[in-house]
Amino acid sequence: PSSTPAAEFFAAYLQDSVTQKLDLNAFVWPEGLRPETSSGGQFSNDVPEIDISAAMLAKNEGVRAAVAAKISKAAKEWGFFRIVNHGLPPDMMSRAERQAHKFFALQLDQKMRAAGSSSNPFGYAAAGPSRAIMRSWHETLYMLCNHARIDNLANKVWPVLAFHCSMALSDYTTAMNKLGLQLLELLLQGLGVDRNKLTRHYSVEGSSSARINFYPPCPKPDVTFGLPPHTDSGTLTILHQDAVGGLQVCRNGKWIGVQPKPNSFIVNIGDCLQVWSNNIYKSVEHRALVNSSRARMSLAFFYNPTDDTIVAPIKELTSAKTPAVYKPFSWAEYRLYAGTHKSKVLNAIDHFK
Ligand code: SIN
Ligand code: FE2
Repeated sequence: PSSTPAAEFFAAYLQDSVTQKLDLNAFVWPEGLRPETSSGGQFSNDVPEIDISAAMLAKNEGVRAAVAAKISKAAKEWGFFRIVNHGLPPDMMSRAERQAHKFFALQLDQKMRAAGSSSNPFGYAAAGPSRAIMRSWHETLYMLCNHARIDNLANKVWPVLAFHCSMALSDYTTAMNKLGLQLLELLLQGLGVDRNKLTRHYSVEGSSSARINFYPPCPKPDVTFGLPPHTDSGTLTILHQDAVGGLQVCRNGKWIGVQPKPNSFIVNIGDCLQVWSNNIYKSVEHRALVNSSRARMSLAFFYNPTDDTIVAPIKELTSAKTPAVYKPFSWAEYRLYAGTHKSKVLNAIDHFK
């Protein structure tokens, strides 16, 4: 009775002293907070899908405005949308995925050479954030998107393949940084404000981050999460998920499984963009489920402002009728605060009102 079946399986999977230090019961979520098993393996195509090719070419303003309007509608109503025909090379994600799979297949002691710490969260981590009370069923590689940092991380863990690993990840994060700005501009255009309004806050390499999530098969997927329900703290998240699926989005109080689809990205609004937009865009709760038969991988790119950014509702979006819903706050502080007090953040960022 000292530990639960799910926790034992995870410990066996990792087979390492690091896991022995965990309270293994922490993998088993309390009843009432667990995923509903009924919605586990079902996927839906309901999340709005937007073909952004016309906007990427950006020749015709009318066409671009039409794409902006579609994205904007999805950001208001869902907080989530799928983009297709984004123009990025089809093999870019498979190369990054392949390198990441090689990384996660390493022995744990090798991966631990790249472990993050409380003072530097970037790097490898197993079994959920160390400060969380309940554990979740994943391993992650978390990177600050700055080439020097990625090279460093790769060199630490993987001397022979470091070059390929860091090249694949650098190509991916460089492309995501560009795409992030393009999406932000479209989202601002859709609000009727200057599309370059926020550009200066997003211009420095290394303010965005990427997290590669690896979810081993879990014998008790109904009692735990790959990632528990949360909203994202930053501006935009651009997610690639493999063909296994497990991402669920909260929609009118129900969890909707997002159908995996090749060559597409799932984009969601983060807390900062909810604030910039004065609550017009929604930072919506989502979670990742695990399954008992297949390992799953997802790559999440977090498009973030620079650390000196003060986030506040954009003036043009406030009026006597629609006063600012949030007080200005520092992104650098919020990022830290949100990590440990996320439940308060989920309640409409009350802390900052
Ligand atoms: C996932 O779908 O695996 C990740 C979702 C997230 O990063 O929140
Ligand atoms: Fe997320």
